[in-house]
Amino acid sequence: MRLRDAETWQQLRGAHVDWLGPWEATLPPDTQPPFVSHRSMVKAMLSRARAGQSLPFVVTWEGAMVGLLTVNGITLGSSRSANLGYWVARTYAGRGIIPTAVALICDHLFEVAQLHRIEIAIRPENERSLRVVEKLGFTEVGLAPSYLHIAGQWRDHRLFQLVVDDVPGRVIDRLAEPQ
Ligand SMILES: CC(C)(COP(=O)(O)OP(=O)(O)OC[C@H]1O[C@@H](n2cnc3c(N)ncnc32)[C@H](O)[C@@H]1OP(=O)(O)O)[C@@H](O)C(=O)NCCC(=O)NCCS
Repeated sequence: MRLRDAETWQQLRGAHVDWLGPWEATLPPDTQPPFVSHRSMVKAMLSRARAGQSLPFVVTWEGAMVGLLTVNGITLGSSRSANLGYWVARTYAGRGIIPTAVALICDHLFEVAQLHRIEIAIRPENERSLRVVEKLGFTEVGLAPSYLHIAGQWRDHRLFQLVVDDVPGRVIDRLAEPQ
């Protein structure tokens, strides 16, 4: 994500309010929105990235922005972990774009960033996203009740993880064998 991507991101996101609404985190009541514009949101993302806390990636297809993949909560020390959030534009869904992007970022996080564990939290109703972790061989580790505020309520999530020791080769190679 670059500062100059803010306008395209805003347009793409604005066109996908219905598509993302059931799955995208919302602010709990009485929380002041921390940002006034997408540009200030991108500035904050880049600042967190410089601080080593997150990695915001634009997902592209033939040069155009079609989605977002964010590595959040990067923790070093005894944890060496992070969690992922993602979405793709509705018209590009079903082409394996997000499984590919997630696999590539997992390989980067294990090989370059030297992380040990990557987590993805998914609402039980989100069958499309459940397919993403299934295709990549993530392990389910439990149910987190009231895990995240989405569409105005605290929602339960199923938690999935991939630990570096689970992957003898590269995560991207797992996509070659349909799960
Ligand atoms: C979940 C999501 C990221 C999956 O990304 P993707 O790049 O479409 O992933 P895939 O191509 O592997 O498709 C996953 C499943 O979507 C369904 N799908 C297939 N074609 C589709 C289409 N044209 N439109 C919608 N869903 C479709 C299928 O069930 C597919 O599984 P299959 O390959 O076993 O048939 C995407 O659906 C999305 O952005 N959804 C809205 C936001 C969201 O849920 N984010 C994740 C929060 S945890």
